[in-house]
Amino acid sequence: MTTLAPILSDIWDAPRSWTLATYTEHQGYDAWRTAIQTDPTDLVNAVKDSGLRGRGGAGFPTGLKWSFLPPPDGGPRYLVVNADESEPGTCKDIPLMLANPHSLIEGVAITSFAIGSNHAFIYLRGEVVHVYRRLLAAVREAREAGLLGTNILGTGYDLEVTVHAGAGAYICGEETALLDSLEGRRGQPRLKPPFPAVAGLYARPTVVNNVESIASVPTIVRNGVDWFTSMGTEKSKGHGLFSLSGHVTRPGQYEAPLGITFRELLDMAGGVRDGHSLKFWTPGGSSTPILTAEHMDVVMDYESVGAAGSMLATRAIQVFDETTSVVRCVSRWTDFYQHESCGKCTPCREGTFWLKQILHRLEAGKGTESDVDLLLDVAGNIEGRSFCALGDAAATPIKSAIKYFREEFEQGVHTPAWELFPYEANAAF
Ligand code: NAI
Ligand code: SF4
Repeated sequence: MTTLAPILSDIWDAPRSWTLATYTEHQGYDAWRTAIQTDPTDLVNAVKDSGLRGRGGAGFPTGLKWSFLPPPDGGPRYLVVNADESEPGTCKDIPLMLANPHSLIEGVAITSFAIGSNHAFIYLRGEVVHVYRRLLAAVREAREAGLLGTNILGTGYDLEVTVHAGAGAYICGEETALLDSLEGRRGQPRLKPPFPAVAGLYARPTVVNNVESIASVPTIVRNGVDWFTSMGTEKSKGHGLFSLSGHVTRPGQYEAPLGITFRELLDMAGGVRDGHSLKFWTPGGSSTPILTAEHMDVVMDYESVGAAGSMLATRAIQVFDETTSVVRCVSRWTDFYQHESCGKCTPCREGTFWLKQILHRLEAGKGTESDVDLLLDVAGNIEGRSFCALGDAAATPIKSAIKYFREEFEQGVHTPAWELFPYEANAAF
C-alpha cells in the first residue's frame, strides 16, 4: 500500500490555513465554480459513481442517499451537515473545520446545488465555541466573496448557510435527534422510516451528511471520479482521515487511502510508544468492538474490519498498550454511554445503568463470581433491542473486551484494576 499526499488536510499546516485567501491560493472554490455550471443530476451521478461512502461512521453510499430525495415539488429541501462529532476517540471533523472550514463550505455549496437546496445547516456540537466562531467567519468570508448568498457567481442560484451550535448532547449526533434539536426540541431519535431523505427537517426532504463526506465532494469534482475510484478497495473507495490517539508516538490525524492496514497506520504514527507493546485498539471509536495485536494486518475498509469482528466506523483508532486495564477502559466508555443515553427506550436507559454498576464493582475489585456473565447478559439484552445505535455502541465494546480479556474481568472479583495496572505506568506521556 502506498501512502498518499494529503488531500483533505493538504493546507492544514499552511499559515492562516482557515482563511479564504489561503484556500483560494490552493484551488479553493474552483470545484464550486465548475459545479455551478454543471447539470445537478450529473453531480449526483458523479458522487454515486465515485463510490464515496458516508464518513460519519455508517458508510452509507453518499450519492445514493442524495438520489433518495423525491422530485422537486416547489417546497424547500435542506442539506444538514452533521458536525456533532462527540464519540470518545473520534477527532477528525473538528480539526478539519478548524484548519480548513472553507473545504467544508465549498462541499456544502456543491452538495446543496446538486440536490436543489437553497438552505443548508451545519449542526455543530456546542462545546467547541472556537470552531463555531471559525465557521461563522468562514461563511461570512464566502458570502462577501459572492460564493454564497443570492445570485451566486451571477447564475441566479441562491444559498443560505446557517451554522447552528447544539447544547452538547452526544445523542444529537444521531441524525434524527439532530433534526429534532435543530427544530428547537429536545434531541431524541425519531422512528425510521421515514428517512430524512423523505421527511427530515421540518418534515421536508433533507440530506444529512457528515463533515468529512461533504468536504470530500469538492475533491471529486476537482479531480474526477476515476481519480477517486483509483484509491481504496473494491467496495470502499477513496481516501479518508484516520485519527490515531492513545499510546502512539505521534498522535494525530493521518490521511490515507481506505484499505491501508492498521500496521501501516501505526507506523505512520511512529508506532506504540517506546518500550511498550500493543494490547488492544479500536478501529472506529469507542462504539466499535475492540481488536488486539492479532489484528495488526487488518485492512482498513468497511468489509475487512467487519470480517475481523469490528467496524471501520469513524476510523478513530485508539491505541492501548500493556499498561492499560481493559476493565477500567471499558468502564470509562460505559460511564459515557450511560450519561449520554437519552432515556427514550428501556434497554438502553436501564441497561447502561446496570452495566456501569457492574463494571464499577469489577474495577474496584469488589465484583461477584457471576458478574462477568451478568455483564454479557445485560449487554446481550441491550444489543439489537434498543431504539437507536447508542445502545449497541454501549454493549458491543464490552462483549469484545470480555471475549479477548475475560481473565482480567474475572480478576475484578478480588483485585482492583489500579493494583493490577497502576495509573502512573498507564499515563500516556
Ligand atoms: P444507518 O445505517 O441507520 O444510516 C446511515 C445513513 O443512511 C443515514 O443517513 C440514513 O438516513 C441513511 N439511510 C439508511 N437506509 C436508508 C434508506 N433505506 N433510505 C434512505 N436513507 C437511508 O446509521 P446511523 O444510525 O445513521 O449511524 C450510525 C453510525 O454513526 C455508526 O456506524 C457509528 O459509527 C457512527 N457514529 C459516529 C459518531 C461520530 O462522532 N462521528 C458518533 C456515534 C456514532
Ligand atoms: Fe435513547 Fe439509548 Fe434508546 Fe437511543 S438507544 S433512543 S440513546 S435510550
